[in-house]
Amino acid sequence: MSSKESDNLLNFVTSLAGDHFLKIEENLGDGFVRLKISEAERRQAKHDIRSVEDIVVELLRNSRDSGASKTFVSSHKEDQLRKIVVIDDGCGIPTNLHEKIFEPRVTSKLDTVVLDRYGVHGRGMALFSVKSAADKAWVVSSFPGKGSVFKIEANTAILGERKDQSTFPTIRWRQGEPQILRGPHNIVRILVEFNIDHPQMEIYLGSPAEILSTMLTLNKSHPNGNFSDVLEQTDLKLWRCIGCVSQAKILPEMAKKYFELEISERNAHRIMNREIKPLPRIFAEFGENLEHWLNGKEKEVSRSSGKENLSKFIQDEDLEILSQNIVKNFDEVGKKYFLKLQGKPKIQRGRNRIKIDLDLEREEEI
Ligand SMILES: Nc1ncnc2c1ncn2[C@@H]1O[C@H](COP(=O)(O)OP(=O)(O)O)[C@@H](O)[C@H]1O
Ligand SMILES: [Mg+2]
Repeated sequence: MSSKESDNLLNFVTSLAGDHFLKIEENLGDGFVRLKISEAERRQAKHDIRSVEDIVVELLRNSRDSGASKTFVSSHKEDQLRKIVVIDDGCGIPTNLHEKIFEPRVTSKLDTVVLDRYGVHGRGMALFSVKSAADKAWVVSSFPGKGSVFKIEANTAILGERKDQSTFPTIRWRQGEPQILRGPHNIVRILVEFNIDHPQMEIYLGSPAEILSTMLTLNKSHPNGNFSDVLEQTDLKLWRCIGCVSQAKILPEMAKKYFELEISERNAHRIMNREIKPLPRIFAEFGENLEHWLNGKEKEVSRSSGKENLSKFIQDEDLEILSQNIVKNFDEVGKKYFLKLQGKPKIQRGRNRIKIDLDLEREEEI
């Protein structure tokens, strides 16, 4: 949504329903807003970050919401410090908002609150919580249309994590669908769980050197020029720009500058000499069954993504009107059953579908 459009929406909603209905405190432009406290609270979810694994979930949810198809997660520990880098090829973030998004209630998801297995998402609190819980959290680089790189450093003596970070979860099959049977709730498990829910995402997990080796190997393009020229002058995603590096001696510097992936010179040589194996996507670890299932799911997704997304045609203001009419009409029906609506209807756009959820509560007896 352009800032003009969101201003229009703001005015429209205000004119309709007065200030109490207004959920935006500040319009930050480029589709970003700061929500009012009441609205942020209404979207309250279990957002408190209690472990390193919780951080990984929030970063992945953000990559998913940004439309990423590939996400690279680098994770390693130096003494007690857990260092995590998440690289995605999603919609990216305008430069002037790289710091603002860590402030509470700043979101670009005003009209697309998402409900997933972890609760409600889209109230602009996750990155704020992540930054509060970790030692450091920042956007390393991100450009609109090119993807994002986030880095997190967390002291595991303060913010806990599962001790066992190497065991993979055990999967069983139930009615043709994979289910996680057991395994510690470590980072791998979080990623596998997430990938089962979002099979269209390609997720990689490894050390900084393994992630770099994977990005270089997956890269079919080897553009000429230095990194920043390639970034500016081509429409390659951020992670693909690494393809322009052909010499081991400049790899550590570029990897650090654009991805915060720290590698030694020795590892740079090993990567270039293909001595550090690229990673398989995380699902591949589970053998053919899972890959087969995944291929089927990907076909489903690509079949449906060829079609139009009709729900996008409906303007935000018309969705608001629809929602208000539903509230009005519900009253009549609800009375019969001594039921009323709890809060506003939740509206979600899907492909060729609009989903409206109504939460019910009992009408207090008088
Ligand atoms: N990986 C990402 N790619 C693009 N934008 C992102 C990414 N992560 C965060 N953002 C932006 O930062 C905003 C704030 O993120 P967050 O604090 O998680 O709140 P929420 O996801 O509820 O909006 C998001 O609304 C989004 O615009
Ligand atoms: Mg989020």
